[in-house]
Amino acid sequence: MHLKSAALWLLLNQAQVSCANPLQLEKRALATSDPFYPSPWMDPEAIGWEEAYQKAKDFVSQLTLLEKVNLTTGTGWETEQCVGNVGAIPRLGLRSLCMHDSPVGVRGADYSSVFPSGQTTAATWSRSLFYKRGFAMGEEAKGKGVNVLLGPVAGPLGRAPAAGRNWEGFSPDPVLTGAGVAESSKGIQDAGVVACVKHFIGNEQEHFRVAGEAKDYGFSISESLSSNIDDKTMHELYLWPFADAVRAGVGSVMCSYQQINNSYGCQNSKLMNNLLKNELGFQGFVMSDWQAQHTGAASAAAGLDMSMPGDTAFNTGRSYWGANLTAAVLNGTVPEWRVDDMAMRIMAAIFKVGQPVKQDPINFSFWSQAAFGPVHWRAKQGYQQINGHVDVRGNHGTLIREVAAKGTVLLKNSNGILPLRNPKFVVAVGEDAGPNPLGPNSCGDRGCNAGTLALGWGSGTANFPYLVTPDAALQARAIRDGTRYESILSNYATSQIQSLVSQDNVTAIVFVNSDSGESYINVEGNMGDRNNLTLWKNGDDLIKTVAARCSNTIVVIHSPGPVIVTDWYTNPNITAIIWAGFPGQESGNSIVDILYGDSSPGRSPFSWGATRESYGVDVMYKPNNGQDAPQQDFSEGNFIDYRYFDKANSSLIYEFGYGLSYTTFDYGNLKVQKENVSTYQATSGVTAAAPTFGNMSRNPGSYLLPNDFQPVYLYVYSYLNSTDLKAASTDRDFGKTAAEFLPHGANDGSGQPLLRSAGKHSPGGNAQLYENMYTITADITNTGRIAGDEIPQLYVSLGGPTDPRIVLRGFDRLHIEPGKTVQFKASLTRRDLSNWDPAIQDWVVSSYPKTVYVGRSSRKLELSAKLT
Ligand SMILES: *[C@@H]1O[C@H](CO)[C@@H](O)[C@H](O)[C@H]1NC(C)=O
Ligand SMILES: *[C@@H]1O[C@H](CO)[C@@H](O)[C@H](O)[C@H]1NC(C)=O
Ligand SMILES: *[C@@H]1O[C@H](CO)[C@@H](O)[C@H](O)[C@H]1NC(C)=O
Ligand SMILES: *[C@@H]1O[C@H](CO)[C@@H](O)[C@H](O)[C@H]1NC(C)=O
Ligand SMILES: *[C@@H]1O[C@H](CO)[C@@H](O)[C@H](O)[C@H]1NC(C)=O
Ligand SMILES: *[C@@H]1O[C@H](CO)[C@@H](O)[C@H](O)[C@H]1NC(C)=O
Ligand SMILES: *[C@@H]1O[C@H](CO)[C@@H](O)[C@H](O)[C@H]1NC(C)=O
Ligand SMILES: *[C@@H]1O[C@H](CO)[C@@H](O)[C@H](O)[C@H]1NC(C)=O
Ligand SMILES: *[C@@H]1O[C@H](CO)[C@@H](O)[C@H](O)[C@H]1NC(C)=O
Ligand SMILES: *[C@@H]1O[C@H](CO)[C@@H](O)[C@H](O)[C@H]1NC(C)=O
Ligand SMILES: *[C@@H]1O[C@H](CO)[C@@H](O)[C@H](O)[C@H]1NC(C)=O
Repeated sequence: MHLKSAALWLLLNQAQVSCANPLQLEKRALATSDPFYPSPWMDPEAIGWEEAYQKAKDFVSQLTLLEKVNLTTGTGWETEQCVGNVGAIPRLGLRSLCMHDSPVGVRGADYSSVFPSGQTTAATWSRSLFYKRGFAMGEEAKGKGVNVLLGPVAGPLGRAPAAGRNWEGFSPDPVLTGAGVAESSKGIQDAGVVACVKHFIGNEQEHFRVAGEAKDYGFSISESLSSNIDDKTMHELYLWPFADAVRAGVGSVMCSYQQINNSYGCQNSKLMNNLLKNELGFQGFVMSDWQAQHTGAASAAAGLDMSMPGDTAFNTGRSYWGANLTAAVLNGTVPEWRVDDMAMRIMAAIFKVGQPVKQDPINFSFWSQAAFGPVHWRAKQGYQQINGHVDVRGNHGTLIREVAAKGTVLLKNSNGILPLRNPKFVVAVGEDAGPNPLGPNSCGDRGCNAGTLALGWGSGTANFPYLVTPDAALQARAIRDGTRYESILSNYATSQIQSLVSQDNVTAIVFVNSDSGESYINVEGNMGDRNNLTLWKNGDDLIKTVAARCSNTIVVIHSPGPVIVTDWYTNPNITAIIWAGFPGQESGNSIVDILYGDSSPGRSPFSWGATRESYGVDVMYKPNNGQDAPQQDFSEGNFIDYRYFDKANSSLIYEFGYGLSYTTFDYGNLKVQKENVSTYQATSGVTAAAPTFGNMSRNPGSYLLPNDFQPVYLYVYSYLNSTDLKAASTDRDFGKTAAEFLPHGANDGSGQPLLRSAGKHSPGGNAQLYENMYTITADITNTGRIAGDEIPQLYVSLGGPTDPRIVLRGFDRLHIEPGKTVQFKASLTRRDLSNWDPAIQDWVVSSYPKTVYVGRSSRKLELSAKLT
């Protein structure tokens, strides 16, 4: 892949615009990113990090420069057992730390679980399930020896419904996603594994995220796409969930592949230094996405703390860091305090989650499921046991089944046809009901759509320990109930399907799907992002075929977001429509639980428009800037998903927050209690100067590869090969001083002013932003005959002319027995009622009249009150 030089980066990261092609420049002024330096260092008093800081300080103070650099630099692709490992510190007994996928399980491992996708989990609207799923995933990762789990996902947020990785995250709503990533991070970390919230930030589509990858789909571009996001939209939409994760204590953040305002995510000082580490007070470490680092000293100055997987490109054996970072500290290009801060942040995160220095060994290998093999996979060196086949699943299947069922959304249910009550004859139709004939894990990283779809594709996946198909689960239930059951697991056996579903007493359940994933795999011509929002594999025709002959047709959709249902959703023969997301390994059991009413469904975490165009924003499929970086202007601002539909006054098929229940609920007794909050005080003051930890030799001779040392082939080390730093580095540009290629102030270690919106020792930002201004309560009564879960939602109208009609600010999932009333309670914080003011660089409660709403979806707002 093409790598940008530090010099070009400098130009792009300065106020003056630079671009390879002057003709393009005349066409448009490219967005730019303001420099923000120096990179903030850790705060010893940061709330929740005090003890971790002390432990890290004790540990890091003992380290040599080589050992510190070891912590910051990956050892190279396929050089250790995980998708990414950093160097070890053998002298103090710390083994190589393991950074490993994914947000649904332990990628590539065996005897581990596949959890429901983030998006399906979001559809439960249950903070306790978000947490429990995170905790269970953390337990599994821990049992395999993973130190940092690469999840949860808040980017993509879901700007465009066709974007390939939306299912890995939660919802295009920042509050729902914020709760998702905060609770997941707490769960993962309470289980003893560092969470890594990703991808920071603006990674809203797969196309052009990596310039080199674009060749695979026929485009030659010199640089990756730039997501151009204004400051207000950044704060009110995309940064919001990251703030929640930081506030929840997340230990790590992954910077993204693409550019933001024409500066790469992993060297953008405005993003990492300003927004993340200063304003949000993030105390953990930033790691690069795999090969998302493009510079050495410049990325260090911009706030990157860990290079993943460490080599400049896969298997070069070379690194922007490693020996280069050692040399850069020795020659003064990177200050000692910056490397110390990287090591501190990494070790503080490790200690914060309770991990010891002496760690249990990693007992799986991402590269092989064989028991014995090379630890250093690429080099084929170090034969030993690499896979203990340790079963880490516990009883997580039960939780997976529960989350997937409760995250299934009932979109249509005519005449209470569901739940099924001892049906006479059930017929399941469609490839999506059955197994992949080649096995559930036959396609690498789930890169195909065959059989029932329980996950999308890409690095955000894991191996199924088993996959319960809808066909198997429906048949088992039918046998138990004495129901007749048949299935046709094909989308194309039209005549057989027609004759079967035309029989008397048929309840036909049609399973259809749509798939998406990550752009390094092409599935049926889809480069990660979906080419369309329609069903795959002739799904619409299949539904129509069945519905034309069967007056009781139930449609079940497995998909990574909305699909177009416009053609058939009103057909009276289609009695029920269900969205089952990507449910994970218990797929069939979960759908049976919903179809038969043994569990309560969830609510849609996104909107269902009538057409693709109705969403207003979309993926960019063709470069729009010649051979230069495609420019994706987020000119819609905050108006994505329901905010866009509301602004356009357009009708929707199923709105954000919508979903039916098997019982009925009444809403009443809305109460607004004003809380006594103090007046907002902008944060002020100056930090302490940057500390350094331990002593360091300035003699290059102390950093040479030890004489008797046998380096592993293609392994990245921090050692120098020569006392001549230029020779050790082999950097073509070697010799440029920091002043020549780093922005002004990059190496300034003196105390720095705190931003007004930043927290004083409080991760997440100014603590007053999280003070409760109002407490809202309402009574929810189950007026039906069976128990069920209701999901009351709190929306606010901020009242300004440029504000969305309403924004989600609170929600809960309440289990209510028939005839009983339960109180819904939510609070509105100062941030909830504020807008970001780019002029003063802070959150401000505007004077526009504000209204709160409590309702059952974004368009069924039964209760409302003015805020005073
Ligand atoms: C991107 O540019 C916009 C418009 O100038 C600005 O408001 C925003 O802060 C910039 N964001 C970053 C990360 O540089
Ligand atoms: C860095 O880590 C590697 C193993 O990952 C090890 O071989 C090397 O000796 C370490 N360097 C130092 C200075 O400890
Ligand atoms: C992995 O399993 C082995 C036994 O096969 C055990 O000795 C080791 O401690 C385990 N590692 C972790 C991280 O639990
Ligand atoms: C140092 O970084 C440069 C790129 O900036 C690279 O070409 C060189 O190989 C690196 N040196 C080492 C020792 O990895
Ligand atoms: C089965 O179908 C027949 C013919 O339509 C009908 O008379 C009978 O009531 C149906 N039985 C059930 C249980 O639906
Ligand atoms: C949408 O994409 C899928 C998968 O590539 C394909 O099967 C289907 O035919 C496409 N639909 C339309 C209407 O082109
Ligand atoms: C509904 O199904 C019946 C068969 O039960 C069929 O006669 C009728 O045409 C179907 N209606 C539609 C709108 O497809
Ligand atoms: C939407 O409706 C409101 C109120 O009826 C109206 O003021 C506004 O102009 C409409 N917007 C659009 C885009 O039609
Ligand atoms: C509100 O809080 C302030 C300061 O905490 C206190 O002095 C004041 O008495 C409180 N007012 C009420 C009505 O509780
Ligand atoms: C440094 O020397 C080792 C051992 O000779 C060799 O394997 C490695 O490729 C060298 N690294 C660089 C960056 O020259
Ligand atoms: C210092 O080392 C770094 C990393 O090898 C290199 O990029 C830089 O040009 C060097 N600067 C000087 C002044 O030697």
